[in-house]
Amino acid sequence: MEKQDKKRIKKLRKEIAKFRRAYHVENRPDITDDVYESLARELKALLEKYPELDDPNAPENRVAGKPLDKFIKVKHKVRMLSLNDAFSYQELYDWEKRIKKLLPKGSSLNYFCEVKFDGLAVSLIYLNGKFTQGATRGDGLVGEDITQNLRTINSIPLSLHAPFPKYIEIRGEALVSKKTLEKLNLENKKEGKSLFANTRNVAAGSLRQLDPWLAAERKLDFFAYDLYDSLALETHSEKHEMLRKLGFQVEKMEAKCENLEKSITFIKKFEKVRPNFPFGTDGIVVSLDDLKLQEVLGAVGKAPRFMVAFKYPAERATTVIKGIIVNVGRTGVLTPVAHLRPVLVAGSTVSRATLHNEDEIKRLDVRVGDTVILQKAGDVIPDIVSVVTELRPAKSKPYVFPTTVSQCGGDGRIERIPGQAAWRCVSKDSFEQQKRKFHHFVSKKAFDINDCGPKVVDVLLKEGLVSEYADIFTLKMGDLLALPRFAEKSAENLFNAIQKARQVSLPRLLVGLSIPQVGEETAILLAQNFKTIEELRRKVGEPIPTPTPGRDVGAEASALEKISGIGPIVAQSVVDFFNIKENKKMLDNLLREISVEHMETSGGKLSGKIFVLTGTLKSMSRDEAKEKIRGLGGSASESVSKETDYLVVGESAGSKYKKAEELGVAILTEEEFLKILTK
Ligand code: IVH
Repeated sequence: MEKQDKKRIKKLRKEIAKFRRAYHVENRPDITDDVYESLARELKALLEKYPELDDPNAPENRVAGKPLDKFIKVKHKVRMLSLNDAFSYQELYDWEKRIKKLLPKGSSLNYFCEVKFDGLAVSLIYLNGKFTQGATRGDGLVGEDITQNLRTINSIPLSLHAPFPKYIEIRGEALVSKKTLEKLNLENKKEGKSLFANTRNVAAGSLRQLDPWLAAERKLDFFAYDLYDSLALETHSEKHEMLRKLGFQVEKMEAKCENLEKSITFIKKFEKVRPNFPFGTDGIVVSLDDLKLQEVLGAVGKAPRFMVAFKYPAERATTVIKGIIVNVGRTGVLTPVAHLRPVLVAGSTVSRATLHNEDEIKRLDVRVGDTVILQKAGDVIPDIVSVVTELRPAKSKPYVFPTTVSQCGGDGRIERIPGQAAWRCVSKDSFEQQKRKFHHFVSKKAFDINDCGPKVVDVLLKEGLVSEYADIFTLKMGDLLALPRFAEKSAENLFNAIQKARQVSLPRLLVGLSIPQVGEETAILLAQNFKTIEELRRKVGEPIPTPTPGRDVGAEASALEKISGIGPIVAQSVVDFFNIKENKKMLDNLLREISVEHMETSGGKLSGKIFVLTGTLKSMSRDEAKEKIRGLGGSASESVSKETDYLVVGESAGSKYKKAEELGVAILTEEEFLKILTK
């Protein structure tokens, strides 16, 4: 029989709670007062029969009373302090240094680390084990009595587990989960109401409801983190154990740390979990574990000296859209990417954000010049959450998606993918071409960007972080950190390599540009003759007078042809390249980011001399030898001709030797060559 009664009690509790809510909160009295009271009477009678089942923490005991007119002020027995912040590990070390000075020499400093919840600090008073009063922090000295509302929170015991002291004050955080925030905002959005920015605002809003029934609706939760008592406890960690024993919910992610390094390890560990942690958090509270030492340190102003809040970097920031660029993805799909005024978000600077597709731009109504809210969650490329329309420039116009995209190749035509929000290039092979050019641009013979292999280039292109060469140099650490498989170290290496590559020689720049017909040797010849990129552009950059097919090589091209070693086809190709509008723009942008070393040829002792290398050299690689020749003003060519001045012969020389002999070219052994170099 007893078993059945127990079952009945459980069921009644559930139903009564449901009806009470329907009645009070939803304004939907599904059943009449008579029925409700009858059920309540039945429960009461059963509980009288089984007093051991009378649970002071049961739902029927939680919400009581009518809406208040106003909250009553309560004075805190122990002042509710706030915490000083540390925004970096260095600031934590500085804090440790300061407290060490104030503590007896040789005190061993053990720390306690715990999650800093993003909710509302509350104080709970228990008299003889019964929850009697709950209050907000207020100004720390005087708060407001929100007992009625706090009683609705299931994780606040109305009655403590024994043994408990006659009087005890519990401190902790009242809060809602991220899920609750999401749900609430979804409802608010549907109803056209304004949205809550964070879980803290929901908690504060709910606890400051005068009607406890409304507070009960909000699914509040409570985590305890401190207590004030007459118990003989020695450490902060013991306080947490005690809180658990009394029946409170205490967060499991916490750690006793024997030094500050270990605390930092905990901070890093939690940082990984944080994005998926069910509650909003903004840092880690680090405290000195020993309560006696805490007492020695005391407080200054409103904050204790023995505790500090390590704050994680903000994950949201505002910035301004400088431009919107449409990138061509691997399969020809177009991705619009916002170029931003660089901004610090989640601890690193970012300069790009993906806009996904045309529909997303329309949804957000993002325009060039807009101030936007950026959000970085986890290891992904930052997203634009919304536009701060209040800060929109007066003359701004909605963004218009382009009708042609030059990187698509050909006439640049694009088409909408049927049934999708995305556009793609009509021509299918452009991306492969673009990819290959980028691979070449960063390669050893060109800009020689270490740590930027083809795989990295592919990701940069795919994610839309780069679409033209100049983009590589405007990448910020934060952009790189967001890439798949990029950690702090790899991002830093790449970032540094990119910075180093800003300084480039003229031949390397010319090689990097993928000018048809221009390889290393031609690039060097061009560089030796024009000395600066500006001069080269001037000489070849004027519009071609008669752009008819099959026409004679123009004046500019013939200027190039005068250079020995450059024929008409190469000359025309160079002229064409520098006269294409897109190339001009690309080069202008690139030159803004890099600094091109001038080619110093005049006065070089090998000035005008053409060398060819064959066979293996003992003292250096062929590339090194070429560099040396060029450094002294000479040039290195691949094949022997009448123009060749010297053939340098290494071990197992090939057919070039014979050809040089035939043409009467001077032949140098490695030793003779070295002498010329060092003379
Ligand atoms: S200890 C001296 N522990 O942070 C204040 N506070 O900035 C003692 N908070 O008002 C607070 N989680 O609202 C402490 N585990 C935690 C906390 C925590 C969140 C909040 C609390 C307090 C504020 C201080």
